This record gives sequence, structure tokens and C-alpha cells, in this order.
Amino acid sequence: MSIVIRPFRPADLPHLQEITLAAFPGVSLDQSIEEKFGEQNGHDWRWRKARHIELETIANPAGAFVAEEAGRIVAYITTTLDRANGSGRIANLAVFAELRGRGVGRQLIQHALAWFRGEGLSYALIESMSHNEAGRGLYTSVGFQEIGQLVHYAMKL
Ligand SMILES: CC(C)(COP(=O)(O)OP(=O)(O)OC[C@H]1O[C@@H](n2cnc3c(N)ncnc32)[C@H](O)[C@@H]1OP(=O)(O)O)[C@@H](O)C(=O)NCCC(=O)NCCS
Repeated sequence: MSIVIRPFRPADLPHLQEITLAAFPGVSLDQSIEEKFGEQNGHDWRWRKARHIELETIANPAGAFVAEEAGRIVAYITTTLDRANGSGRIANLAVFAELRGRGVGRQLIQHALAWFRGEGLSYALIESMSHNEAGRGLYTSVGFQEIGQLVHYAMKL
């Protein structure tokens, strides 16, 4: 069955959030914070992660894309732009586990990079948790180069 990539539509949001909650356990910064400090403000990490996706698609709906197989959304990518800076950032990307390893993640990144170029941007950014081997393997495989490593800190107030 072939994969079709198309622009995001607002009605897709629950599907993106479902994929997010299935895909991000073990590779989510929000989850790591929760493991140390518990829920924040009465919300668990799933709520926060799902909310990130909503905010990204509200902020830049034209820069979000979904991958469908037989009419079912199986993966997505969200992006943010800084036009003054000439940069685009891939904010979130996830593929349902049963569809992984078939090049869907790569196709979505290449689609987003082509969209960035069409928007006149001159470079692209992306981040990964250091232990996310699939994410890191994917990013370097499409041409991203590692620049540096960021260490996240948090404290309870
Ligand atoms: C990261 C993710 C999006 C990759 O999606 P995918 O469709 O399986 O990736 P692809 O099939 O397009 O793989 C493309 C390349 O990425 C690399 N890659 C993919 N999975 C990998 C893994 N588990 N380990 C190492 N490298 C991997 C390989 O170089 C691969 O190329 P190859 O198949 O020719 O070897 C998917 O694993 C996922 O949804 N993970 C959970 C959410 C996440 O981590 N998102 C990214 C952080 S925002």
C-alpha cells in the first residue's frame, strides 16, 4: 500500500495527537520531567505533548503535513518558521510503530524540507533526545549534521 503525503487539515488534529501518544513514550522530554517531579499543574506529560502538537498546528498550519495509507493517517510532521532568521524548524514528527522502517519518516522530512525551500528559507533545524537512536539516525540520514548537545535542567518551584 502506498503512502500519500498531504497538507494538514484542522480536523486531523485528534489523529496527530493519537499518533503522538502512541509514539513518544520513552523519547519525550515532558515524560522525563514527569518521572522526576510528577505531574505539572495537574496535567500529565501526554496532555502537555498533545497540547504542543495543537499549538504547533495552530501557529503554522501550512507547515504541517500528514502521511496517509489507504486513507488512514499513519504519521505526521509539524514545523515552525522564523522568516527573519531564514530558518525552519521541524518541531515534531511521528510514525505509528507498525509503519516504521518503510521510509515514511524520511519522506515526511523531505516533504517539509522542500516546503521550507519553497518558502525561501535558507536552513533547517531539528533536535532529538540524545538517546533517541531512531530520530538521530533519521536526521543524519537525510543530511542534518550534529552541531552540539543541549542538556535540559528542571527544578520544582
Ligand atoms: C523517528 C521515526 C519518526 C522514524 O520513522 P520511520 O518511518 O521508521 O523512519 P524511516 O523508515 O524513514 O527511516 C529512515 C532512516 O532513518 C534511520 N532510522 C530509522 N529508524 C532507525 C532506528 N530505529 N535506529 C537507527 N536509525 C534509524 C535509518 O537511517 C533509516 O534509513 P534506512 O532504513 O535506509 O536504514 C519513528 O521511529 C518514530 O515515530 N519514533 C517515535 C517518535 C520520535 O522519536 N520522533 C522524532 C523525535 S521529534
